[in-house]
Amino acid sequence: MKSYHDIVGDGGSRILEQVAEQRTRVTDGLAGVRHLVAVGSGKGGVGKSTLTFHLASALAARGLRIAILDADFNGPSQARMAGVQRALFVPGSHKVALPRTRNGIGVFSMGSLIPESEALDFESTTRGESQTWRATREFALLGEILGSFEWGELDLLMFDLPPGAERTVQYAEFLGPRASFLLVTIPSEVSRGVVARSVAALSKSPNRMLGYIENMSGYYCRDCDAIKPLFASSGGADLEIPCFGAVPFDPELASHCDRGIPLPALSETPVGRALDQVAQRLLDTLDTESPR
Ligand SMILES: Nc1ncnc2c1ncn2[C@@H]1O[C@H](COP(=O)(O)OP(=O)(O)OP(=O)(O)O)[C@@H](O)[C@H]1O
Ligand SMILES: [Mg+2]
Repeated sequence: MKSYHDIVGDGGSRILEQVAEQRTRVTDGLAGVRHLVAVGSGKGGVGKSTLTFHLASALAARGLRIAILDADFNGPSQARMAGVQRALFVPGSHKVALPRTRNGIGVFSMGSLIPESEALDFESTTRGESQTWRATREFALLGEILGSFEWGELDLLMFDLPPGAERTVQYAEFLGPRASFLLVTIPSEVSRGVVARSVAALSKSPNRMLGYIENMSGYYCRDCDAIKPLFASSGGADLEIPCFGAVPFDPELASHCDRGIPLPALSETPVGRALDQVAQRLLDTLDTESPR
C-alpha cells in the first residue's frame, strides 16, 4: 500500500477536479430548490425521521412541492415510513427520477436500495481503513446523490439526518449556509442536555437554526381522546432557540410508520394538529429573513 509520501501529485486521480465537478453538479442540481431544511438532533431515536416525513406530508397537503433526502445511509427510515421500500429507480430526462409517495413527495432513501438484512459498507483494503475514510466517503456519496437525482423545482428539500452533534455539524459544513436546521428533542432532561450541545455546536456554523420540536411531549390516549404525561419531568437545559411546537406520541402513528401506510384522519387528531402547527411555523419562519 502506498503512503502519501510515495504519491507524486494526486496519484493521477484528478481528485481536486473531481471534487470541483461534483460541487458544480450539486449546485446545479439544487438550483430549483427554494429551501433546504435539515432535521437533526444530537440524540438518537427522538423522532427525526417521523417528524421529517409527517412535516413533509403536512406541507405537501398545502400544495407545496417537497422532497426528502434520507441522509441516514446506514439507518434509513424513510423508505419504510414513506412506503417506497420497493421503489424502482428509473432514468428521468437527464438524471435519475426520484421514487414518489402516494401524496407526491419525492424520496431518496438507502432503504429503497439495500434490504434491511444488509448494512451499507464502504469498500477498502482493510476494515480499519473503511472506518477511517467513512465520513469522507459518506459525504462523497451524499454529493453523488445530490448531483445524480432530479430534484427539479421544489419549495423544500428536507434532509433526515443521522443522530449525533458532530454529524449534524458535518452536514452543515457539507450543505453550506443555504441549509437551515430544525432540531428534535423529547422532554427528558437527558435528551434536552444532549440537544443543547447540538445547539452549541451548530451555533459556530453560519447555518440558520430555525428552532426545535419537542416530540413525544405526551401520550395520546385514543380511547379517552386525551393527552397523558409521558415523562415525569419536563425540565432540563434551555435550548436557546425557538420552540416550534410539541408533538405527542401516538402508538397508532408508530404502527402506521412501521407499515408505511398513512394514518387515516391524522389531521383530525391532536398529533396531526400539532404537526400542522409546526409545519405552519416552519413556513412562516422560512419566509422571514435570517436574524443572523
Ligand atoms: N410522535 C410520535 N408518535 C408515535 N410514534 C413516534 C413518534 N415519534 C417517533 N415515533 C416512533 O418512535 C420510533 C423512533 O422514531 P424515529 O425513527 O423517527 O427517530 P429518529 O430520531 O429518526 O431515530 P434515529 O436517531 O435512529 O434516526 C419510531 O418507531 C417512530 O415510529
Ligand atoms: Mg432517523
